[in-house]
Amino acid sequence: MALLDIRDLHLAMRSFDGEAHVLNGISLSVERRQVWGLVGETGCGKSLTGLSVSRLVPTPPGRYMRGEIRFDGRDLLAMPERQVAALRGTRIGMIFQDPTTNLNPAFRIGTQLVDVALAAARRKPGVLAGGGRRAAERLAVQMLEKVGIANAAERLQDYPHQFSGGMRQRVLIAMALVGQPDLLIADEPTTALDVSVQAQILRLIRSMVDEFDMGVLMITHNLGVVAQSCTHVAVMYAGNIVESGPVRDVLMHPRHPYTQALLAAIPTRGTARGALRGLAGAVPNLIAPPPGCRFAARCGRVSAACTVLPPLTGALHRTACHHADHADA
Ligand SMILES: Nc1ncnc2c1ncn2[C@@H]1O[C@H](COP(=O)(O)OP(=O)(O)OP(=O)(O)O)[C@@H](O)[C@H]1O
Ligand code: SF4
Ligand SMILES: [Mg+2]
Repeated sequence: MALLDIRDLHLAMRSFDGEAHVLNGISLSVERRQVWGLVGETGCGKSLTGLSVSRLVPTPPGRYMRGEIRFDGRDLLAMPERQVAALRGTRIGMIFQDPTTNLNPAFRIGTQLVDVALAAARRKPGVLAGGGRRAAERLAVQMLEKVGIANAAERLQDYPHQFSGGMRQRVLIAMALVGQPDLLIADEPTTALDVSVQAQILRLIRSMVDEFDMGVLMITHNLGVVAQSCTHVAVMYAGNIVESGPVRDVLMHPRHPYTQALLAAIPTRGTARGALRGLAGAVPNLIAPPPGCRFAARCGRVSAACTVLPPLTGALHRTACHHADHADA
């Protein structure tokens, strides 16, 4: 049984202009020790996928039309909020870009980290090796050191506002990891950080994946981060996963025209390595999306068949395209 199994998830979001069909049948499984990168242009539904797994999409304006999000076999969408709240921050760790969402401004950083570590120890007795609050404080200091916070022991006494934005993001990462979650959802976790800190944090996440059997869903614009840190990748376009599979297969032998275009658009000189550059054309309006394949207006391979939505097919390396490029297969 997969740790996380998203099945045919459809989500609509209401706005002033109408209801947008923002997730159009997402299916994705994350096993323990897998690090899935979720990539795609802005507005493709990456964050809403991550927020859905944390069940943090407000409903309304959100409305789940169909589908399931199975975590350890249980559908999160069917659980009472109280049970989902008990999973958040413990079994499901979250790093979102806005640190204010996960740090309570009214409590010292140390108190917040220690509480998470103590909760983890109740769930997994090995976390503090039988120790209590003192052991939790030691763990909190170690975790702050691992994310690169200097004078970690003293800084436990500080409140969130006493940290700079980049530091708060690191504290947030420490908070998500100190609880040794089974599943980590990380939405652009290192984008705001400088390159050396980014590398350090990605290494830390990878080491925790192996040490604690964690599964990760990492949302990123950066294909360089995917290549370095992920075992698998799912490419999203306008609310659909259009290609997914082991990272090497997808990045070395992309089959979907959109993945091929994304990879071709990686700047080689003068700009940040691995970042996506704009492709020609734009993601369609999801209030009235085109019938069939949502990439059709930008696709050089489009045919009459493409007015029918292509299913995601394949065993490990999966593609949703009527004319996928299997030349390398
Ligand atoms: N609260 C909301 N109300 C209405 N529409 C929303 C809401 N949040 C997101 N959307 C819409 O849903 C779509 C997907 O948004 P999402 O934030 O998941 O994109 P994303 O892939 O994470 O983009 P980015 O790379 O810019 O973070 C977008 O069209 C967005 O405008
Ligand atoms: S299904 Fe058709 S329009 Fe969509 S990506 Fe494939 S060839 Fe292009
Ligand atoms: Mg986003």
